[in-house]
Amino acid sequence: MKKFLFTTVLALGTVVAFEACQSGDVIVAEKKLNLPTQTMRYADVQLPAHLGNTRMGDIGVTDNGATLGRVLFYDGKLSLNNQIACASCHKQAYGFSDITQYSKGFEGAVTTRNAMPIVNPVLNSTLFWDSRSSSIEDLALRPVKNHIEMGMESMEMLTKKLANTSYYPDLFEKAFGTREVTEERIQSAMSQFMRTIITGNSKYDQGMDNMHANFTPLEKMGYNIFTSDKAKCSSCHMEPNFAPNGGNNMMIFPGNNNVFNDPNGNFVFEPLPGGGGMGGNPYAQTLGTTNIGLDKVYADPGMGDGHFRIPSLRNIELTGPYMHDGRFNTLAEVVEHYNSGVQAHPKLDHKFRDANGNPTHLNLSEVEKQALVAFLKTLTDKQMCADTKYSDPFSN
Ligand code: HEC
Ligand code: HEC
Repeated sequence: MKKFLFTTVLALGTVVAFEACQSGDVIVAEKKLNLPTQTMRYADVQLPAHLGNTRMGDIGVTDNGATLGRVLFYDGKLSLNNQIACASCHKQAYGFSDITQYSKGFEGAVTTRNAMPIVNPVLNSTLFWDSRSSSIEDLALRPVKNHIEMGMESMEMLTKKLANTSYYPDLFEKAFGTREVTEERIQSAMSQFMRTIITGNSKYDQGMDNMHANFTPLEKMGYNIFTSDKAKCSSCHMEPNFAPNGGNNMMIFPGNNNVFNDPNGNFVFEPLPGGGGMGGNPYAQTLGTTNIGLDKVYADPGMGDGHFRIPSLRNIELTGPYMHDGRFNTLAEVVEHYNSGVQAHPKLDHKFRDANGNPTHLNLSEVEKQALVAFLKTLTDKQMCADTKYSDPFSN
């Protein structure tokens, strides 16, 4: 009876994809796709003024393209065993990240790094912990092919599979004009959807016009520490996106050029004669990635010698565990790392070194540490995490 009621309610304005799919002898009923009769508006999504105003419709996003992308993002059909969707590891309620250190992917395999949140991808031109991807299009299908994540080895198999569903041909037609399912179209739609995932309505954002008069005294104190010369947080996690401003755009890969931070903190660009490596300079740093002294020896070197991408801190309250390997469970532990845990490493960023090159520790008081955490929590955008435009369009 309950089930009957449920189905009746959903039947209004709903595409019910009730296709059976064979797995051994067991017939598994598919999840139902519930899209609103009126297409949701994605082209109109716009970054707030202090983040640059970009309107999605002006950078190739269409309402139907992003709608298709949303369905793809949540569809287990993109994995070989129909069990793993992008959203299995990128959960909206947690800023599109996962709450475990390593995420379960295809057939129980686990990822080797912590799942990243999706934070204003329009403002980044490098992606992943080691900045190895330079565009959201380039990235979009990598997880599908990844053995650990979704295990779909052939794109032909995927396009055929999607073309045989009851709902994709229609969605492709709406988005691209014909019913044909192609790899490029999947890539485009998925990228369109991810681009529209915009976070710009946190307490921090709301206080942009009034000097953060909306902050509590503790949050204000934390903001002051965050931007201080002593803690230097905002020199890497730069306002207003709390990631390097343009830094990701200026990313220069080792092998062509090298970008140094000299001891005075100035950026030095230098072509590498032989190519490769970090040039042997102790202050060498590929712009947008850095070594923050997590380890003396890195099992996962990231971009090289413990250099990892400087991530945005937007929604950081929701996206733990933290760091590329998810080693810290709480923000208090992260703050304690910067406060007392930075370790010596030949490639440790100069911002964490004293005049003799030794690791510096902030020696913050308990209240100051709490204040930093309180400030970090002002970067949470609850609206984005609950917006139905980005939510799961399937139901059981
Ligand atoms: C099994 C878990 C898992 C699945 C499934 C998965 N991801 Fe990820 N995702 C990760 C992990 C782990 C990382 C970080 C990888 C790294 O840096 O090496 C990541 C990184 C990303 C990033 C980079 C974010 C940034 O700021 O750089 C994006 C975007 C992304 N994934 C999108 C997707 C899409 C789209 C899909 C589906 C096609 C998907 N992911 C499926 C675990 C997953
Ligand atoms: C020299 C640049 C730099 C400075 C200064 C810096 N960070 Fe970071 N931060 C990074 C990098 C790089 C990472 C990712 C490191 C990794 O995963 O290995 C990171 C990670 C983080 C994370 C976890 C992000 C996530 O998604 O898991 C938080 C929180 C954070 N930093 C807060 C701070 C605070 C607070 C300060 C000031 C006390 C600060 N950072 C100073 C570069 C910096």
